[in-house]
Amino acid sequence: MTDNRDGFDTRGVHDATPPQPANAPARAPIYQSAGWVFSDLAQVDAIYERRTPGAIYGSDGNPNLIALEAQVASLEEAPAALATSAGMAAFTSVFATMLRSGDRIVAARESYGNTRRLIGDFARFGVHGTFVDTCDLAAVENALAQGARLLVAETISNPRLRVADIRALAAAAHDNGALLMIDNTFASPYHCRPLALGADLVMESGTKFLGGHHDIVIGTLAGADELLEPVRTFAVRSGMVPSAFEAWLTARSIETLGARMAASTSNAAALAGWLASHPKIARVHYPGLPEHPDRDVAARTLERGFGSMVSFELDGGVPAVDALLSGLRRIRLILSLGGTETSLSHPAKSSHRALSAQERAALELHDGFLRMSVGIEDLADIQADLAHGLERL
Ligand SMILES: Cc1ncc(COP(=O)(O)O)c(C=O)c1O
Repeated sequence: MTDNRDGFDTRGVHDATPPQPANAPARAPIYQSAGWVFSDLAQVDAIYERRTPGAIYGSDGNPNLIALEAQVASLEEAPAALATSAGMAAFTSVFATMLRSGDRIVAARESYGNTRRLIGDFARFGVHGTFVDTCDLAAVENALAQGARLLVAETISNPRLRVADIRALAAAAHDNGALLMIDNTFASPYHCRPLALGADLVMESGTKFLGGHHDIVIGTLAGADELLEPVRTFAVRSGMVPSAFEAWLTARSIETLGARMAASTSNAAALAGWLASHPKIARVHYPGLPEHPDRDVAARTLERGFGSMVSFELDGGVPAVDALLSGLRRIRLILSLGGTETSLSHPAKSSHRALSAQERAALELHDGFLRMSVGIEDLADIQADLAHGLERL
C-alpha cells in the first residue's frame, strides 16, 4: 500500500513487495535475485555456516539450483549433485579442484573434442593428459600404471557410440589410486547410472537430453559429498554455476526425460536396423546392433534400450552429405543433440573440428561420417524423410 509520507522515487523502489500467499504455487517460482536479505548478523552467521537454509549471494544457495541438484542427485542415484553453467564447466571445476602440477589425467581417445582440448589446456599448469582407447582395458591399465589422478571416459562415446565397460574401468582406476569420472551425456541417467557401476563422479552436458529442447546450456555433476563440496566451492567462486532461470527450465524439462528417452530410443533402434540394410549407407554405428563391437558391454551397462544416438557413414564425403541434406524436409543440421526433433551433425566439421587432421584420421572421422540425434517424432515420418534424402545420393 502506498505510504504518502515517502517520496515518489522511494515508493517506486520499495512498494512492489509481493504478498506471501498462504498456499504454495503449483510450480516453483523462479528466484531471480542476485542479492538476499538478512534480518541480522546472527542470521548471516547461521546461513554461512549452513545451520539455517538460506541463500547468500548470486547463485550461492539459490532455491532453483538446489531443487535441480536434488532432482539430478535422485536420478543419478547420487548422494549429492552440483549444477554448472555448462557441461564443460563441470569438467573445468573438477580439474581445477582436484589436479595439481605433475598430475596425470588418462582420458578416452574418443572423447568429445572440447574435452580433449580442455585437458590439453591444463598442460600449461603442469597437468599431463594421456589418451587411450577406453574399450581396450590393457591400454587403460598401462596408462594408469604410470600414475594418474583421474580416468575420464564417456558412457557412449561421441561420435562412434562405443560403450565403456564402466565396472572394469572403475576397478582399473581404483587399483591404481585414480578416480573415475564418467561423461554420461549420450546415455543420460535414463539409460545409465555410472555411480552404481563404480564411477566416482558423473557429469552430464544438460544442454543435451536433460534440457531436451535446444534452448538451455547447462551441466551437472554428481557424486559423493566429500568429492563434490570442494568442486562446488570452486564453481561458485569462479562463477561456473547457472542462472536461476536455466536451472528452473532444466528441472522442468527433466520431468519429461523418461518419456522423451523412451520415445527417441525406440525410434533410434528401429532406424538403426533400417539404415543398416539400406544400400546407400556404408556403415551404421548403434550399440544395439548385433555387429556393434561393444554389444555385450552395452547390454550390461545400459538399461531400457541402447540410446537415441545413431551414427552412420556415407561414401562420397562432403558432396554426399550435402546431397542428403538437400533432400531432407524435417531433419535439420544442428550441431548439438538431445532435442525433441531428429537432427544431424557432422563431427569432422563441428564437435571434432578442433582436432588435427591426423587425430581425426586416427578416429576414422572422415567427411562422410554423420551423427544423428533421434527425436520423438512419428517413426514413419523420420524414416520417410531420411529415405527422401538418401534418394538424392
Ligand atoms: C559428450 C559431450 N560431453 C560434453 C559436452 C559439452 O557440453 P556443454 O556444451 O554443455 O558444455 C558435449 C557437447 O556437445 C558432449 O557432446
